[in-house]
Amino acid sequence: MSDIKIAKNHGHLWGRRDLVTRAGWFATLATLAVATGGFVRLLFRRAPLEPPSVFHAGTIADYQPGKVSDRFVRAWRVFIVHDGERLFALQAKCTHLGCTPRWYGLETKFKCPCHGSGFHADGVNFEGPAPRPLERVKIWQDSAGQIWADVDKRFEYPRRDVPDAFVAVRGGGKASG
Ligand code: FES
Repeated sequence: MSDIKIAKNHGHLWGRRDLVTRAGWFATLATLAVATGGFVRLLFRRAPLEPPSVFHAGTIADYQPGKVSDRFVRAWRVFIVHDGERLFALQAKCTHLGCTPRWYGLETKFKCPCHGSGFHADGVNFEGPAPRPLERVKIWQDSAGQIWADVDKRFEYPRRDVPDAFVAVRGGGKASG
């Protein structure tokens, strides 16, 4: 009787021990593959290692003269303004109590929904309880013409004509501020 049982076990394609061994090898190989993939990605990453406060804001061509872009407000809380000569980044944070202002293109002003503060397109406050203009965020253009901003580096009014507080766009937008 026992001879018959032994014969049956050997007849299985994969015994229990084989399955456990194969599962172990599979797990090991899968772990190795993931680790190798991560290492290779690290070696060949295309973008330079940027601090988490830095984001890519496209190129000057992405912005229209005289317009305010709110495309980075949700992710980075930053408005990008093209005043015709310069590109600058305004922190979308009201200087009263920190609410997020909105841009009203027809009225050409930022308006805070919390207590009604208003700011001109250049960020200067003109109505409501906000005590000072919106802060500017560091912005620059790299040698490849790409625009970057760093939300951790800010310029309080009136520091707006200093390097990295704007990008000059005259003459095709090659010079940075
Ligand atoms: S938080 Fe903007 S007006 Fe008060």
